[in-house]
Amino acid sequence: MTTTYKPVYYGDYLHLPTILNAQHPRSSEVGAPAHDEMLFIITHQTYELWFKQIIHELDSILAILVQNPVPEHDVATALQRLERIASIAPILFQQIDVLETMTPMDFLDFRNVLYPASGFQSVQFRLMEIKLGLHRQQRVLTHLPLSDADKDYIGEVEKQPSLFSLIELWLERMPFIQKPSYSFWQEYQEAVGAMFDRDRTMIRVNSAMSAQAVDDMLTQTDMNEQSFRAFFSEEAYNALRESGAKRLSFKASQAALFILLYREYPILHLPFRLLQTLIEIDENFSIWRYRHAQMVMRMIGAKVGTGGSSGFDYLMRATSQHRVFADFSALSAFLIPRGSLPALPKEVASMLNFVYIDRQEQDKHSATRTAATDYVKTQVQAHFPHAYLIRESADNGAVVLHYTFPDDAAAAHALTFIAPLIDGMNAEYGVEVRVNAVPVHAA
Ligand code: HEM
Repeated sequence: MTTTYKPVYYGDYLHLPTILNAQHPRSSEVGAPAHDEMLFIITHQTYELWFKQIIHELDSILAILVQNPVPEHDVATALQRLERIASIAPILFQQIDVLETMTPMDFLDFRNVLYPASGFQSVQFRLMEIKLGLHRQQRVLTHLPLSDADKDYIGEVEKQPSLFSLIELWLERMPFIQKPSYSFWQEYQEAVGAMFDRDRTMIRVNSAMSAQAVDDMLTQTDMNEQSFRAFFSEEAYNALRESGAKRLSFKASQAALFILLYREYPILHLPFRLLQTLIEIDENFSIWRYRHAQMVMRMIGAKVGTGGSSGFDYLMRATSQHRVFADFSALSAFLIPRGSLPALPKEVASMLNFVYIDRQEQDKHSATRTAATDYVKTQVQAHFPHAYLIRESADNGAVVLHYTFPDDAAAAHALTFIAPLIDGMNAEYGVEVRVNAVPVHAA
């Protein structure tokens, strides 16, 4: 069945009459038309449209990441949308070049009619910051000159999970770094210690350096090692978090570092690209803030802004203070060369590689396993009518059948009897079925 839709006209579809009739220079309204005000308005409106697109992407990314667990293919979608946000940035930078074709004198022709409006009041800009994860306490100025309705709306959005908080939770859930037989953190600390020991040996045996130069380099190496050690202690790290110097949790930092160090493993490709894109988006915001501040200096010098802030000084402080993903880029200080990186144990390495599963083979294997398991059950029941199957479990691919027997002797006897039978059958079927026999009083 073919569905037919009403034909649509280009201008109607895009609501062009609304958009193209939304430029009303104030300078003309007050009877002193300033030619460049049209550029000023259109530039701001274009920004707001791109902000809308970014928020649209961010909302869908947040909806994906709020899931627990986040399905793997959804991570790919989230990444693709984050990359789209990152790729919008050059357009935003370039618009500053266009606006800067307006000279400070041209701007003065209409600046006085703008009071007290300012980009400071851009609700969409605040939404982007908040959805990315900027905290109110982190702001240079916590009081924003907004209407009560906008303040309420922003307050509500601040209560919702941000990209930062969801990424932090996602990292904390990463399963690879702590296993019964493997601790990434332990191995990493040992590798760092060994790396600095090697560095010291190299410095000491370097005959080209004076005794003073050797001492200086050793002191420098000690200091470098100290900065690593501060990162090793959860207590010291949490003190940094309390002070606001760090934001990302200790556990999430470890997971992020693991991804950065072992990114060559296929399963970590996507998480690695995701972290890189977050760093890029954060960097883009900073670049835009910096470029905007420079433009402000060029247009109005050190004058206060129309929105009532100190202007350039405020904007520069916001540039350095309003970073969301700075902790991710700061992790670069803790990377160690590939040669010093501990090899992952087989158990973890195999989890990080793609595994091709031949479904037919898998089905055949599971049918064989069921047949073998049934065979063992029949044998136990035939020879030991007082045995009770209380549970079936899986252990590293093996099926374990848990039986109770009337007493210790019966359990031991059953095991001795059944062992050769099971060994032979396991070898023949290429599967592993085991029997766990316990006396009923111990079950
Ligand atoms: C002649 C061009 C511009 C000048 C002189 C200018 C000036 C300023 C000043 C002085 C501030 C500080 C707040 C205040 O006291 O007003 C500010 C903030 C801001 N402006 Fe502009 N601006 C210009 C163009 C733009 C454009 C094209 C945008 C695009 C949307 C924009 C967006 C913003 C935003 C979002 C803020 C808040 C930044 C923050 O709080 O971190 N501005 N602007």
